[in-house]
Amino acid sequence: MAKLWGGRFQKSAESWVDEFGASIGFDQQLVLEDIEGSVAHVTMLGAQNILPKEDVEKILDGLAQLKVKAEAGELEFSVSNEDIHLNLEKMLIDLIGPVGGKLHTGRSRNDQVATDMHLFLKKRVPEVIGLIEHFQKTIIEQAEQNVDTIAPGYTHLQRAQPISFAHHLMVYFWQLQRDKERFTESMKRIDILPLGAGAMAGTTFPIDRLNSAELLGFAEVYANSMDAVSDRDFIVEFLSNSALLMTHLSRFAEEIIIWSTDEFKFIELDDAFSTGSSIMPQKKNPDMAELIRGKTGRAYGNLMGLLTVLKGTPLTYNKDMQEDKEGMFDTMETVLGSLKIFEGMVRTMTVNKARLHSAVHSDFSNATELADYLATKGMPFREAHEVTGKLVFTCIQQGIYLLDLPLEEMQKESALIEEDIYAVLAPEAAVSRRNSLGGTGFEQVALQIQNAKQLLV
Ligand code: ARG
Repeated sequence: MAKLWGGRFQKSAESWVDEFGASIGFDQQLVLEDIEGSVAHVTMLGAQNILPKEDVEKILDGLAQLKVKAEAGELEFSVSNEDIHLNLEKMLIDLIGPVGGKLHTGRSRNDQVATDMHLFLKKRVPEVIGLIEHFQKTIIEQAEQNVDTIAPGYTHLQRAQPISFAHHLMVYFWQLQRDKERFTESMKRIDILPLGAGAMAGTTFPIDRLNSAELLGFAEVYANSMDAVSDRDFIVEFLSNSALLMTHLSRFAEEIIIWSTDEFKFIELDDAFSTGSSIMPQKKNPDMAELIRGKTGRAYGNLMGLLTVLKGTPLTYNKDMQEDKEGMFDTMETVLGSLKIFEGMVRTMTVNKARLHSAVHSDFSNATELADYLATKGMPFREAHEVTGKLVFTCIQQGIYLLDLPLEEMQKESALIEEDIYAVLAPEAAVSRRNSLGGTGFEQVALQIQNAKQLLV
């Protein structure tokens, strides 16, 4: 089949060479963006009298027909037309005749493809932001149900200090809040239009780039035509923001997986978000959480992939850049899917409050209370730490916990300890007394949730 750029060539590439160079297999996902960009471009060409009105109308009519077919999934793409841009141009010419060939006046596939990518992210990053926000609301709902739920807090995955379970859940709210801010901020750089840069040097036609930007709803145009066609920073940024978002989801997934084990039993996932085993009838596996943890790997891979593609490319456009697409599509699908699933998983999970309560009553996570108690009574904290450590050791030897230790035993280590120590050692007291700003005290957690809610309105 004759190439749209075939004039200079004496013979055509063999089909397997064509296939290797073609991007239509994946860039057909940009079909609507490509049509949208063309509509704006030809409208601008008409407004500038670069093309006669009747030609513009024919082209717009043809593009409208292609759009209807694209939305119905009726377009048949061909590898011999290489990519989405040439496929659509060929279809347009087949549909309305040689006048279709005027669409590409003052334009190159280089500014065209960059425009498509900007349009793609301009439409979908707000979807990501919306899903993050939806998930944040669900986290707040679960947190509100669990302000009074006392749970063990961990460092090194060892019991550390008792906390409000809501405090733990809210960590993920704040991580997502920062993710949302990063995506929102990145919109500034997505919202810049490359169209009108031509192949890289601009064009001899009296185009109006600001009009194109207005027609497509862009806030700005690239200030440098060479930058316009070679910049893929906005995609790297999307992949980077996504990689960090997936890191957060993966950490949360890891906790969900741990909490669902028989050893922990802190939560139970809904059947709708779990799967069984083909051989072990008792199994209920947290597959969705594991899969999200696993998919984090591909999000990292896509980021590394594009950074590596770009690092050796001289200005301006190089065919290497065609490799920017699959990773971007894949990460977009991964992020949207993971956020949807995670929200449902957290909304429907059951928190085992009784289990959390008993967990925190059978450990030494209240040891800091005793040390703080002694320090409040004037003992240097380092000494208080030592005294408490000795009493913990005594308990371990006897197979009991600090609350079970008789007062006389405690007083052997320090005469400062009095009857009121038992109230101080209660895990509920340990939590409620941590009323420092941002601490796990019930009042602070309630305040934190209130502040978080205000960020969502
Ligand atoms: N399919 C190409 C890509 O995705 C479109 C731009 C091609 N430009 C060129 N001069 N070969 O990068």
